[in-house]
Amino acid sequence: MDSQKFWDDTAERYAKSPMRDEQIHQEKLSKTQEHLDADSVVLELGCGTGTTALHHAPLVKQIVATDISNNMLDIARKKALEAGIENVEFKQATAEDLTDEPASYDAILALNLIHLLDDPVACIRKAYDLLKPGGVFVTSTVCLGDTLFSFWRILIPTMQLLGRAPSVQYMKRANLDQELANAGFQEVFARPAAKGEAAFIVSRKPS
Ligand SMILES: C[S@@+](CC[C@H](N)C(=O)[O-])C[C@H]1O[C@@H](n2cnc3c(N)ncnc32)[C@H](O)[C@@H]1O
Repeated sequence: MDSQKFWDDTAERYAKSPMRDEQIHQEKLSKTQEHLDADSVVLELGCGTGTTALHHAPLVKQIVATDISNNMLDIARKKALEAGIENVEFKQATAEDLTDEPASYDAILALNLIHLLDDPVACIRKAYDLLKPGGVFVTSTVCLGDTLFSFWRILIPTMQLLGRAPSVQYMKRANLDQELANAGFQEVFARPAAKGEAAFIVSRKPS
C-alpha cells in the first residue's frame, strides 16, 4: 500500500487516538516554545491532524503545516476553523518535495515523521536548507534500529502485510545524531529516551 493511502485510511482513527504519554507530549511542546516568538515563521512536516501546529499558532507569526494525507489535513482545517485560528496554512506536500526558498523558516518541526520516510537523510538536509541561520529543527523520531530484538521486529512486518502499519526505517539513534551533525546541525536539547520511545531532539542551524 502506498504511504498516502495508508495515512488517508488512518486519519479518522489517528484523530481519535489518545496521546501515548500526555506529560512527555507537554514537555516537548514547551521545549519547542522556548525557540518560538511572535515573529517566528514555522514549517511543520507531517503535521497529521494539526494538533501541534494549532497549539503553537497563538505564539507565532505564521505556520505552514504540511502533510502527505489530505484526510489528515481536512481534519486539521476543521479544527483550525472551530478554534478560530487563522495563521496556520494547511498544505498537502510530502516532506521529500518541498520547493520553498532556502532560509525561509525560523523553526521546522518533524514530529513522529522521519522514521516513516524513504529517505530520512534527504529530509534532514532539506530542513537545514530551508531554515534561516540560527533556526531550529525540532524532531521526534522512533529509533527502531535500537530495538533489534523487540517484538516490534515481528509485529511491524506482520502488520504491514495486513495494511495496518506504514513503511518504516529501522534507524538507530546514533545514526540519527550523526546525520543531523553531518547536515550541519548543532544539538541544543535532547530528551533522554527510554528504549522504544521517540528521540526528541532540538537542533540549531548555526548563525
Ligand atoms: C505518526 S503521524 C504524526 C503526525 C503528527 N506529526 C504527530 O506527531 O501527531 C505521521 C504523519 O506523517 C504523514 N506522512 C507520512 N509520510 C509522509 C511524507 N512522506 N511526507 C509528509 N508527510 C508524511 C502522515 O500522513 C501522518 O500524518
